[in-house]
Amino acid sequence: MHGLHTLAGRKNSSAGPGRKQRRQVTEAILLVGGKGTRLRPLTVHTPKPMVRAAGVPFLTHQLARARAAGVDHIVLATSYLAEVFEPHFGDGSALGLHIEYVTEDEPLGTGGAIRNVASRLHSGPDDPVLIFNGDILTGLDIRALVHTHETTGADVSLHLTKVTDPRAYGLVPTDETGRVLAFLEKPQTPEEIVTDQINAGAYVFRRSIIDTIPAGRPVSVERETFPDLLAAGAHLQGLVDSTYWLDLGTPAAFVRGSADLVLGRAPSPAIPGRCGDRLVLPTARVAADAKLTGGTVVGEGAFVAEGARVFGSTILPGAVIEPGAVITDSLIGTRAVVGERSVLTGTVIGDGAIIGADNELRDGMRVWCDARIPAGAVRFSSDQ
Ligand code: GDD
Ligand code: MG
Repeated sequence: MHGLHTLAGRKNSSAGPGRKQRRQVTEAILLVGGKGTRLRPLTVHTPKPMVRAAGVPFLTHQLARARAAGVDHIVLATSYLAEVFEPHFGDGSALGLHIEYVTEDEPLGTGGAIRNVASRLHSGPDDPVLIFNGDILTGLDIRALVHTHETTGADVSLHLTKVTDPRAYGLVPTDETGRVLAFLEKPQTPEEIVTDQINAGAYVFRRSIIDTIPAGRPVSVERETFPDLLAAGAHLQGLVDSTYWLDLGTPAAFVRGSADLVLGRAPSPAIPGRCGDRLVLPTARVAADAKLTGGTVVGEGAFVAEGARVFGSTILPGAVIEPGAVITDSLIGTRAVVGERSVLTGTVIGDGAIIGADNELRDGMRVWCDARIPAGAVRFSSDQ
């Protein structure tokens, strides 16, 4: 990690609190190369950022929010199923952006992915560059994070949020001024749980810091870059922001996030059409007496038959919900079929799977893509 000491030594030289002219953020890197393992089978054919939330690939919401904060150039750091991003977003002009794509030959981890796209940035050495994990749904005031970065003269500024169980995240204790004291990724022991503040997955990096990450090998920004920067005396600044925040890494979170977008609890300029209690995309068909509530989304070409009730769920394009089915907090994959009177609660049905009539699936059950469940094969309530 040569270079860090030098960087830390000359910090605040040009961007300190007294600086008059503040820089705006115009460039962002989005980390979208993860395998999305915890979201399978949703991510078998589709990388996590391209799974639809509120009717559009989830990434669209992040791109639109970055655009609204003044970003006009975005580099997507891709790896897993890299080939699907560019055909969808193209050069980004439909979103008012210039989007570039960089694919890793082998996954380089979060830090390696950031370093790998550095040559695509146009920013000067002291300019702020926004970096996002590609699976975060948040109402973060991006401009406020950039403002914090510029006024504190930090090398890296991190959006922090508070959670009740921080074990699945990066813990980030700070002093009373918000300066980061340590970075503890996925703490293993109770002694390591020293704070409820976690890394919310959005950063502003001073551009020159990106160039200090070692090139050409996997690097974890959480396990290597942040601890090394702290050890070298760099200034990492945390901004605790308790606005809406959700990591969409699990099916339950993904379904929740999509519903919250529809319900207006999570802000996005990219929701297609009018929202409210439900979002029915063009070409979807819904029987007159079917009931859709709780932020349910019905994708293009999907069909919800008579008497079906769907609460807080995502029905992906081309799926069929047969008469009388009851679906709650679930995600139904592309072209999947849910049979008559089947009751699904908290489940994920993979693309093309067929659930026969009169099944009862619940509590985190996942049905793989193209699987067939015969009528009445799964029931929990037959002895009641
Ligand atoms: N290009 C590229 N290459 N992207 C990657 C790679 C890679 O090798 N590995 C992961 N990513 C991307 C993922 O696609 C995701 O958008 C982001 O990096 C973070 O990876 P996750 O796998 O979602 O990490 P996590 O959720 O366990 O933890 C991260 O996010 C938490 C907040 O949700 C960490 O940053 C934690 O510190 C943080 O608290
Ligand atoms: Mg994640």
